[in-house]
Amino acid sequence: MRALILAGGKGTRLRPLTVYTPKPIVPVMNRPFLEYQIEILKRAGIEDITLSLSYQPDKIQHELGFGHELGVNLEYVTEPQPMGTAGAYRFAANRASGPTIVLNGDVLTDLIVTKLIKHHQASGAHATIVLTPVPDPSRYGVVETGDSGEVLGFLEKPSPEALEASGSNLINAGIYVLEPEILELIPEGQNYSFEYNVFPDILEKGLNFSSYQLDKAYWCDIGTPESYLAAHMDFMSGKVKNFPAEQSSEYDRATTTFVDQNSLIGSECVIKPNVTITNSVLGRGVVVEERAVIENSVIWPHTRISNSAEISGAVLARSCYIGKNAIVTPGTVLGNKSSLTDYTKV
Ligand code: GDD
Ligand code: MG
Repeated sequence: MRALILAGGKGTRLRPLTVYTPKPIVPVMNRPFLEYQIEILKRAGIEDITLSLSYQPDKIQHELGFGHELGVNLEYVTEPQPMGTAGAYRFAANRASGPTIVLNGDVLTDLIVTKLIKHHQASGAHATIVLTPVPDPSRYGVVETGDSGEVLGFLEKPSPEALEASGSNLINAGIYVLEPEILELIPEGQNYSFEYNVFPDILEKGLNFSSYQLDKAYWCDIGTPESYLAAHMDFMSGKVKNFPAEQSSEYDRATTTFVDQNSLIGSECVIKPNVTITNSVLGRGVVVEERAVIENSVIWPHTRISNSAEISGAVLARSCYIGKNAIVTPGTVLGNKSSLTDYTKV
């Protein structure tokens, strides 16, 4: 089976992080995000993976290359303009025959893909959609199912009234197995959406639309700063289990610093005396000066934290400068090259 990863969105909700770094390659535990999706596909023996791109395609291609180091073959298809989720599938899949597994390029999951494929084949469905329960389904696609898991209703980003009427807490996890017949529902060369067009159409036409519930698998859409940070916290607390734990690299560390077990420190970092780092991820080449305190945060490469600064619950992108005694409070997200003067509080 082939795989197609939809990786062309602008990542607006993850701004400012995505201004210079497209969402598919934002670092998660110091690895470009898509490596996690590639890994679960590879575990299922899927090595031919197409990435459907639109926003900053060159950066993604440069980062992931042909995929040979990851043990897969990556192919890139770049749309002339964003074609929507289904339009992108049609544009990329013209030549494909047989079923395709399609993934939204921003869902972090350790789903066992072989089980999904077996379920799809056994059901004989034209389309299978992966579902997961969430406490607040309103920002997702809400799915209603029947007793044997058949999809009965699909509502993208429902209004509070529609959500209450549906009573479902199951959402579209952004992973599908699609038979080629589904291509026929998508007009060529148009912006077209799975969520608003194709799924309602499948239901209207009465095609066989099956669902597969993520059982114990982890699932998170990393597309907002809150969920991006939460995914890191889940990795560090051991809630995301089925990926090899990244190890801190060699870095320059004073003996009087404290770095807890959970934290991940990238290569070429410099950590000066009397620093405290807990539950945080530092990318390559981050410099932390005397007495700074960093907790529950993610810091991208080459950022510098000056003396006695305090960073808590924040995401700082590449090459930021945090002045002495500055205080960065929970929820702060700084874009590349942001600079805070001494004693600033944000
Ligand atoms: N190639 C391409 N072209 N990719 C696109 C385009 C496009 O025009 N538009 C969006 N994508 C990609 C994005 O890069 C992302 O990986 C994926 O499609 C989903 O887009 P999002 O913008 O992240 O959608 P969402 O999170 O609001 O909602 C979707 O995902 C939820 C699960 O996380 C929907 O599929 C919901 O139904 C679902 O519950
Ligand atoms: Mg998303």
